[in-house]
Amino acid sequence: MDVPDSFAYSATDFHRVQEIARLEAGIHLPHSKRSLVFSRVSRRIRATGGESFRDYLDYVTSQAGRAELQELICVLTTNVTQFFREKAHFEHLETELLPKLGASLRQGGRGRLWSAACSTGQEPWSMAMSVMARVPDAPRWDMRILATDINHAVVETGRKGEYRAEDLQAVPQRWRETYMQQAGDDTFTMGADIRRLVTFRSLNLNRAWPFHGQFDAIFCRNVVIYFDDETRNALWKRLAERLVPGGFLYVGHSERVDCTTACQLDVVAPTIYRKRN
Ligand SMILES: C[S@@+](CC[C@H](N)C(=O)[O-])C[C@H]1O[C@@H](n2cnc3c(N)ncnc32)[C@H](O)[C@@H]1O
Repeated sequence: MDVPDSFAYSATDFHRVQEIARLEAGIHLPHSKRSLVFSRVSRRIRATGGESFRDYLDYVTSQAGRAELQELICVLTTNVTQFFREKAHFEHLETELLPKLGASLRQGGRGRLWSAACSTGQEPWSMAMSVMARVPDAPRWDMRILATDINHAVVETGRKGEYRAEDLQAVPQRWRETYMQQAGDDTFTMGADIRRLVTFRSLNLNRAWPFHGQFDAIFCRNVVIYFDDETRNALWKRLAERLVPGGFLYVGHSERVDCTTACQLDVVAPTIYRKRN
């Protein structure tokens, strides 16, 4: 079989990908992303041995192509992240929430944090290090961090919890020594204690969520920038409903919750919201 060097890519092909991203993930792909979509999807078509955009898109929208549809969604996501990104959020968590949460845990309470678009895990592992620094006995109590993302491949990377030294620059040396183990010349892995805190799952934020509990804090950062207004506002509302009274919602530096009144949220800092009591 001859594999073409490049695939024909029509306006209809791009429009079909736009529709798939919108319907499956709530992701809005503006026209400016047309070339990016071409390069990511054509790489995937090549990897699957496909021969044209049209055939590939026919396949992923057929019943037989359900699994490949998830792979297409994965290539359409942008997964840039880093440890302790937007450090002020972690400082806020450490000073405003964790001391009280630690006291409550020791009296038999429960603590729940959610990294709602966790990418390759740097965000939930940073949250876990903040927890361990403020509540070192947390793994003994009913303390859990849920880490979810629509992209199953990044969820797997997060669960593995293995990172190169160059990715750990924002992790204080002392924390790296305490909460991580050296796994190779250049590789560090999350330690056993901290692993007890974090659970990784694949989850589409714009579909039903298979759990019912509420959270003391939710990090939903740098994901709604990919959604349209309607999807974004619906998500803020659902997330706010999942916060305990007094719980915190942390959003990305370029994001804002517009529906604070409807969502029962107060602004405590430009990207930090508190659920009303
Ligand atoms: C830019 S990363 C942000 C990672 C992290 N929250 C941070 O701020 O560093 C955006 C993540 O959102 C995920 N994502 C996109 N659409 C999603 C959806 N509908 N449900 C869940 N996750 C989604 C992507 O897979 C990607 O890993």
